[in-house]
Amino acid sequence: MRFLITAGPTREPIDPVRFLSNRSSGRMGYALAEAARDAGHEVVLISGPVTIPAPPGITLIRVETAREMFNAVQSHLNGCDAAIFSAAVADYRPVQMAGQKMKKSAERLTLELERTEDILGSARAKLGFSGFLVGFAAETENLIAHAQEKLEHKGCDMIVANDVSQAGIGFDSAENEVTLCLPGGRTVPIPRQSKAALARVLIAQITQLSAPQASQ
Ligand code: CTP
Repeated sequence: MRFLITAGPTREPIDPVRFLSNRSSGRMGYALAEAARDAGHEVVLISGPVTIPAPPGITLIRVETAREMFNAVQSHLNGCDAAIFSAAVADYRPVQMAGQKMKKSAERLTLELERTEDILGSARAKLGFSGFLVGFAAETENLIAHAQEKLEHKGCDMIVANDVSQAGIGFDSAENEVTLCLPGGRTVPIPRQSKAALARVLIAQITQLSAPQASQ
């Protein structure tokens, strides 16, 4: 199979030296890319800025902003059998990027933000992707209900639901514990484990569920 995986945060520039971003380390996405490669699959990894070195045997495309990530996904999605969107894409970006470093003046400053491209939400209708589509949902409440809603709304085959209110798992942590949300309201809890071990479980599930006989 050929996998496309997005990973890490995006950075949305405010001026030449400042940006809006988040705490995503990219570890889950890189672990997924390595697990897919180790299972014998081809992998294109589209990554926001992270400190993880480029994994061997994987096509790595580095991007900074949500717009760049959207463009890279658009260029590489065609021909992939499965796509896993684990990136923590910024939902908003400054409407304008200042050309020069902003100097402090007034006591208060209001930044005007606009929505970024919803990359996962574009995969089906806008980008015409017909392979196995996996999204992540990071929630602090009503985890399963929100994840199921995301599954239907974005045309996904699986949502990996992550309770980010718990310390030590998920965002910027070495371990994770998730619930897989599948069509028809089915859920599969995956116990807490290292992101590398969890990635192997997820790739095995995705490979099994996306096999042609699974959809009949
Ligand atoms: N995602 C994306 N492009 C964006 C935002 C999110 O591809 N601009 C993907 C993420 O990679 C993840 C999923 O969408 O797979 C998360 O869905 P989203 O609805 O953005 O989740 P939240 O940010 O948690 O949404 P909300 O703020 O509505 O709870």
